Amino acid sequence: MTIERIQHIVEGRLSPKRFAHTLGVVDMAKRLANHYGVRVDQAEMAALLHDAMKECSLEAMQDMVQQAQIPVDKEMLSNGALLHGPAGAAYAKLELHIQDESICEAIRVHTLGSTHMSVLDKIIFLADYIEPNRDFPGVEELRTLAFQDLNAAVVQAYDGTIRHLLDQGLSIHVDTIQGRNSVLLERSEV
Ligand SMILES: [Fe+2]
Ligand SMILES: [Fe+2]
Repeated sequence: MTIERIQHIVEGRLSPKRFAHTLGVVDMAKRLANHYGVRVDQAEMAALLHDAMKECSLEAMQDMVQQAQIPVDKEMLSNGALLHGPAGAAYAKLELHIQDESICEAIRVHTLGSTHMSVLDKIIFLADYIEPNRDFPGVEELRTLAFQDLNAAVVQAYDGTIRHLLDQGLSIHVDTIQGRNSVLLERSEV
């Protein structure tokens, strides 16, 4: 399937606002991929599909991950904000026949990250956070940092997410903590 066809399908699944966000993630992911020497076509496809299941019911997300046998824990299974990543990866595999594992993995971990993030995973995770439609204090500085030091920018994105969750009195999934720890460790090793 062509990227144009997939863009059309995604547009039909999302509200105008979320589709605009998705195109912003595509734009940022392509720029970062180009900068860091990652395949731009993979970044474009993963970005385009990252939120493809976000506006579906929790039940539809649960069905999708179960059909694709994507392992998720109880906490993810009961929370669409966490489950839409794995569900998006499942959708890409099952419905769009995307066989590129690195694309599916980047979609799967775009919200929480993981303990073994590839450069593509980091690019999608970060592009989601700093795409051009995002507006929060410090976003411009973080966009600049993203092109200077990818790992430092990913840690800052984690920090912002964790601060927000704390401020809102929300739970923090263990993958968020472990993902941040792993990137911190990578930084100290270079
Ligand atoms: Fe998302
Ligand atoms: Fe998103």
